[in-house]
Amino acid sequence: MKRTLGVCYYPEHWPQDKWASDAAQMVATGLTWVRIGEFGWSRMEPSPETFTWDWLDHAIEVLGGAGLKVILGTPTATPPRWMIDKHPDMLAVDAEGRPRKFGSRRHYDFSHLGYRDECRRIARLMGERYGANPHIAAWQIDNEYDCHDTTLSYSDAARRGFQDWLAQKYQSTDALNRAWGNVFWSMEYDSFDQIDLPNLTVTEPNHPHQLAFRRYSSDQVVAFNKVQADVLRRHTKAPLIHNYMGRITTFDHWKVGQDLDIASWDSYPIGFLSDRLEGSPAFKHAFLRQGHPDMQAFHHDLYRAVGKGRMWVMEQQPGPVNWAPYNPAPLPGMARLWAWEAFAHGAETVCYFRWRQAPFAQEQMHAGLLRPDSAPAPALDEARQVADEIETLAEVGTAPSPAALVFDYESAWAWDAQPQGADFEMFRLAFAAYCALRRAGLNVDILPPETADLSAYRLVMAPGIMKLSDPMREALASFKGIALIGPRTDTKTDELSIPTPLGPNLPGADISVSLTESMPPDDAIALEGGGTFAHWFEHLEGSAEVHVRTTAGHPAIMGTAHLRYLAGWPDDATFDQIIADACGELDLKTQQLPDGLRIRDTATHRFVFNYANHPTDWHGTTIPAAGVHWEPLS
Ligand code: GAL
Repeated sequence: MKRTLGVCYYPEHWPQDKWASDAAQMVATGLTWVRIGEFGWSRMEPSPETFTWDWLDHAIEVLGGAGLKVILGTPTATPPRWMIDKHPDMLAVDAEGRPRKFGSRRHYDFSHLGYRDECRRIARLMGERYGANPHIAAWQIDNEYDCHDTTLSYSDAARRGFQDWLAQKYQSTDALNRAWGNVFWSMEYDSFDQIDLPNLTVTEPNHPHQLAFRRYSSDQVVAFNKVQADVLRRHTKAPLIHNYMGRITTFDHWKVGQDLDIASWDSYPIGFLSDRLEGSPAFKHAFLRQGHPDMQAFHHDLYRAVGKGRMWVMEQQPGPVNWAPYNPAPLPGMARLWAWEAFAHGAETVCYFRWRQAPFAQEQMHAGLLRPDSAPAPALDEARQVADEIETLAEVGTAPSPAALVFDYESAWAWDAQPQGADFEMFRLAFAAYCALRRAGLNVDILPPETADLSAYRLVMAPGIMKLSDPMREALASFKGIALIGPRTDTKTDELSIPTPLGPNLPGADISVSLTESMPPDDAIALEGGGTFAHWFEHLEGSAEVHVRTTAGHPAIMGTAHLRYLAGWPDDATFDQIIADACGELDLKTQQLPDGLRIRDTATHRFVFNYANHPTDWHGTTIPAAGVHWEPLS
């Protein structure tokens, strides 16, 4: 498949007489796709049931007529002001009980069934009008679920929905009381309508109560998305897409992905580094204008799996953004590097956000491919270069990955409810494991927790999985490579309580966690032979072989030839060593990659990306800062 580029465009922001020249310039730049419409509700339906489609008809005609393929967004992330008059209780409520106001975006509550009906209605109208339009080659549903912390709402609608959801799941309050252990602190209920949302309690709410609310809230996102997907499918054969985000774990992306054709995501590497990632000041300084060298790859690999093999970048950072604490400009070359990195990880399409910088409103300081005065911004040339390069290297394919990482959203909710240590967080742990695999130069697949077949992989990591699924347990029982399980994997029941016998319940390996410690970052536990565990340490017992001990003599890694349990959270160098040792045993070739250099094999080529802010040597080839190099695989 030929890789393609695109751009996000807001015709409603610009005079109509600019559209044709914008479209022509997009085509001349080598862009194939243009995404429109996702915030345009107030211009589609300025008052209830009064429609003004003419501008959108015309925009699609102009853009499509110029040869661009249009991705049409449903505008449900930005309900217009009249919608609030119609449904005053549709606004989401924060954990402090305060309704969130109109005046920005995403001001809706996923549980509000009246608003869900409005979304079904506008999606149906758009489907009827544009579903068969030959210029509409893909649809985007809504925009960035959970952006601005919008998955959880503590509203009346959510409370009622939660109570119904609980009644269906548990059938009786006796069953719920038992499952949650509500005898503790006299928290027992005798009717479902007594059960409130888990906010504003005196001290922490019961963990299974929190986990149930997180499961319920995620189900609302899935249902909200499905309502629009179902209605659009009746009118279009074009693929349905959502644009997910970076480091968002509040809803189950695996489940949303089941109802869509392609998983896309919005990649803002420099914003993420400043706003959303841990790292020492020295690390953040070194990657200030490039972003974290593994953050983009992690999400490409994750969303490739969420999209069942089909992944796009729907929004690619082109220059400074407006929303991070600090917003530096990318190093020259990064807008090209990020696109090639996405392609090498299987992206079919990369769309830059946005075409022209808006001179007004909230994002006026956010760069585009053009400046507000329509002069080219620095990323325009880089986009053109990528477009030219695609022509010469059209098909890169994807190569199999020897390594896999299991990633589970429910576990993220469980550990949010019960962190036990101030810095225990699911994404952070999984990402640390992922980065170590990448530093070893391995291609990585990310797998859902229900994966039933691991036979394609040599090395599998499953850190922090609250409870192993039955299919995964069976897959592990016959696994012939090395699986590194833990820390904190399979140590809880489905209801976030402690199982008896104690977990983990690993096939063929007698290991259990007898005591758990969390530690401040500076109090790491030293391992025999070097290395440390930080943040977290589990005391293990059982008859399985001890592979590594702490300097105090406690088991640190225990298990069988194929299945090993890590008792703690390795620091980066220790993760590297554990992976190098496992790969050594497996005869799996790893690399000693210089800082900032990352590789990715495709079916035909090895790609090398230099995230460093200085030139770096790769087997005699000097790769400039922000440079991309590719060579045929022999
Ligand atoms: C994304 C969003 C876009 C725009 C962009 C700015 O989160 O989907 O609409 O706000 O960020 O970086």
